[in-house]
Amino acid sequence: TEFAVGDAVVSTFFPDWLAGEPLIEGFATVPGDGVDGYAREMVTARATSFTHAPKGYSHAEASTLTTAGLTAWRALMADGKLKPGDSVLIQGTGGVSIFALQFAKMAGATVIATSSSDAKLERLREMGADHLINYRSTPAWGETVRKMTDGRGVDHVIEVGGPATLEQSMVAARIGGHISVIGILTGVAGELPLVPALVRQLRLQGVLVGSRAQQQEMIRAIDANGIRPVIDKHFAVDDIVEAFRYQETNQHFGKICLDI
Ligand SMILES: NC(=O)c1ccc[n+]([C@@H]2O[C@H](COP(=O)([O-])OP(=O)(O)OC[C@H]3O[C@@H](n4cnc5c(N)ncnc54)[C@H](OP(=O)(O)O)[C@@H]3O)[C@@H](O)[C@H]2O)c1
Repeated sequence: TEFAVGDAVVSTFFPDWLAGEPLIEGFATVPGDGVDGYAREMVTARATSFTHAPKGYSHAEASTLTTAGLTAWRALMADGKLKPGDSVLIQGTGGVSIFALQFAKMAGATVIATSSSDAKLERLREMGADHLINYRSTPAWGETVRKMTDGRGVDHVIEVGGPATLEQSMVAARIGGHISVIGILTGVAGELPLVPALVRQLRLQGVLVGSRAQQQEMIRAIDANGIRPVIDKHFAVDDIVEAFRYQETNQHFGKICLDI
């Protein structure tokens, strides 16, 4: 009853996590990971494996929401309960971080953005980022973030770097600040001083994408605010290897899409 013939839909990351608290550990039930994904001519699945796509979105645009979009949404809005006036730190210019910038600005937050590239920092400024840091030329960027927030630190960190960035993120966060532990761009393990997490009473929240209900809330906000995803480049699905090689170079800004 939720869908009519001809509706544009978009898949959910966890077909079995419909709403409420996190239910699922790992990727065994995730289409495109533990089970077959959607690079198929026809798919039969339960209606709850999909939501409506935002109005006017292409299928490629809608495809950016299932993982990158929803992760940023859940981190800021569901876990972070972001309020207008909050401050948000994003790291780099990948898919998750660019969505976090868009959602944070939509909600009236101040955004501090980092990148390894001055040209990309300029694009971040054009998209509304309030403060910019080149994390290559400023390796101790946590202190810079504190200075930019008059010594207070940010309310929310979208932590996509992992072991090589988490220490700086803890410096950058305010007392009692919220760090969404999302990414592993710099590896899966490393040494971490724990004392800052205790004395600063930080809230480190592991994130694995989100629920179908969160996806519906995100799409409602997208429809109401006219947000469009930033797609850097399209590849034909047959050129998937080339697409991953391009991603490895870190030249992209936002998402890379495969067209089927
Ligand atoms: N937990 C979850 O639910 C979830 C969901 C989605 C993604 N992820 C993970 O989150 C991470 C980001 O995903 P994504 O799709 O946004 O990746 P992506 O698009 O491939 O992001 C690449 C960008 O990350 C930035 N980057 C790389 N190393 C960095 C560092 N040391 N410090 C700051 N920025 C750095 C670079 O930005 P510049 O070129 O601007 O320097 C690079 O262009 C990945 O590890 C991914 O697996 C997790």
